[in-house]
Amino acid sequence: MKMAEGQVNKFSKLHSYFWIYVSCIMSKWLALLLCITSVYHVTCLNNGLALTPPMGWLSWERYRCITDCETYPDDCISEKLYMEMADLLVSEGYKDVGYQYVNIDDCWMSKERDGRGSLVADPERFPHGIKHLADYIHSKGLKMGIYEDFGTKTCGGYPGSKFYLQEDAETFASWGVDMLKLDGCYTNAADYEYGYPIMEFFLNRTGRPMLYSCSWPAYVSNPDYVKIAKYCNIWRNYADIGDSWDSVRGIIDFYGKDKGNFSKVAGPGQFNDPDMIIIGDYGLSYEQQRTQMALWSMMAAPLFMSSNLRKMPQKSKALLQNKRAIAINQDPLGIQGTRIDMIGKNIQVWTKQISPKGKSFAFTFLNTDEGGSPTKISYPLKKLGAIAPAGYNVTEVFSGAFVGMFKPQDSLNVSVDPTGVFFGMAKFLG
Ligand code: GLA
Repeated sequence: MKMAEGQVNKFSKLHSYFWIYVSCIMSKWLALLLCITSVYHVTCLNNGLALTPPMGWLSWERYRCITDCETYPDDCISEKLYMEMADLLVSEGYKDVGYQYVNIDDCWMSKERDGRGSLVADPERFPHGIKHLADYIHSKGLKMGIYEDFGTKTCGGYPGSKFYLQEDAETFASWGVDMLKLDGCYTNAADYEYGYPIMEFFLNRTGRPMLYSCSWPAYVSNPDYVKIAKYCNIWRNYADIGDSWDSVRGIIDFYGKDKGNFSKVAGPGQFNDPDMIIIGDYGLSYEQQRTQMALWSMMAAPLFMSSNLRKMPQKSKALLQNKRAIAINQDPLGIQGTRIDMIGKNIQVWTKQISPKGKSFAFTFLNTDEGGSPTKISYPLKKLGAIAPAGYNVTEVFSGAFVGMFKPQDSLNVSVDPTGVFFGMAKFLG
């Protein structure tokens, strides 16, 4: 169990610590092997971060690896992009509702490390360096995340952290980084279970709390989620999101199946990550944007928007900033909602317990039918988990509209649009 107070008891096993130190100032694989044996006895993630799912903005889905700033001055991966997004998080009200991290993804680096082996940002696109950018983001009351890869290269082909884990952790800390997304391209399948804990050790060792986002389970079959949760605050476990309903639907299906019960591992400090929010981009209808916001809230997912905040449609912005949806996502119990039922082929029923535990819950009916008219549903509240005889006040989450007072045996009658949702909340009375 992680503790909220930050880093405690990290280095109590001094003999192991000594071996880590010795091994890690040595080079290449021998060092890694020694690190591996020691790390397992020493450390577990305990940085006090991500007690609720982290929220922010992340460049990858919308801005990918655009490095040509002449042709794409507004879209290229550059300090200008991240500074502008930081400005907009504040000026457009996102920060006020909880979005906090401004996260750099792949393609921020120079193609080579410097003479001392340190990572360097591309000097043309980040002329003032990453520390300057972090300072700027911090001056706005926000936090900054960065991207690296556990292998020899990032997925985009930039220098990876293999053989440089300690060095890179220290570099990130010295720059004032608050979150690291560590990807898993260009390495061997057997390395993940060693490499990710080692990086976690080095992050802790810097003394700077850095939220640790691991891509580890996305690269292995049958991940050991309990073990992953010991080392990572959040973890990707499925394919990259793309700008389409098919992509969003595929992720929802994966989370609905919940293979290996990964939903059970979620809790304060440790969350499954179904990938970024694409609301306000090109691929989703308004109904589908509501669906993504509802399901990501239900799944206690990190809420990292990947969109152009300069041109966010008003209706999309209202969804992203919906306080009731965010409160369900951010519920302090940190319980991940699950798919509990199907009505016919097309209606999925999801529930999520929210505070007070065992008494109130959020629920979603998702209609995956891709054509025709809205589907009418009648569903008894008790099948959603309602047990309190005094009953529940039911509200529609996006509008805040009061739907009615229901006893467990009462049925809820709702209508759900194709590829849309009815997103509800049942608050215990009494
Ligand atoms: C992988 C990750 C993505 C993104 C890219 C960058 O595909 O899953 O989220 O970080 O790499 O190259």
